[in-house]
Amino acid sequence: MIKYICAKDEYEAGSCAARIFAEIINSKSDAVIGLATGSTPLKMYAKLVEMCKNSEISFKNVISVNLDEYIGLQPSHDQSYAYFMRENLFKHIDINPDNTFIPNGVSQDDLSECDRYNNVLEKIGGVDVQLLGIGHNGHIAFNEPNSFFTKDTSIVDLSESTINANSRFFISKNDVPRRAISMGIGRILRSKRILLLATGESKAKILEESLFGRITPQIPASILQFYQGEMIVVGDKAAFSEIIKNHPEVL
Ligand code: F6R
Repeated sequence: MIKYICAKDEYEAGSCAARIFAEIINSKSDAVIGLATGSTPLKMYAKLVEMCKNSEISFKNVISVNLDEYIGLQPSHDQSYAYFMRENLFKHIDINPDNTFIPNGVSQDDLSECDRYNNVLEKIGGVDVQLLGIGHNGHIAFNEPNSFFTKDTSIVDLSESTINANSRFFISKNDVPRRAISMGIGRILRSKRILLLATGESKAKILEESLFGRITPQIPASILQFYQGEMIVVGDKAAFSEIIKNHPEVL
């Protein structure tokens, strides 16, 4: 069953998501946490940093795995996801950098890198809680609309819609990488818990469509309706607006 938490705004949604993560980590100090990048989790990461500074939470024994990375960006590039994680979370908390895993977007051989990352995930064991954002086209991680659901970590061609959406972070659209390495959907569904975080009006339609509409690889997030673990959707009122209108009973 999916649990829905509708927060007042993106700050409250971020704090709520951070508290859920903190609770899991506080009850299992060596928890494996699955992390995402993008605009959505920024408030949540800021709250986790604050909680760590106030000694409300410690990441000393925590292991983190990230969903994806652009192919072709060095970890030092300010739009790489390695850089994003370092700047927005890792360097501010007491996590051991050796316990943080992100696909390498600049390996010699991308296919071998997918295998390596799958092996890393396999070795680490189950993810206790996986954070997900959602793309405007319904992608989760970088699993784009397709004719099939991906199983394991793979190389993906980013869709035009994702390239357009993410061009806001780059000087020009031409600078946005065209390919990424992404954890597969099969792998995501193996996490013990999933926390789907969505904020802003622009996510309202796709959030509702994904969670209440047809289950199809054309809307990758729709597969979450089949998820067997514990799933919490945290969003602000704007992102929840279509759900509030059409499915008020779930709130
Ligand atoms: C990022 C990721 C993506 C984002 C999604 C939403 O690691 O996996 O699926 O969660 O593109 O991005 P924002 O939050 O920027 O709207």
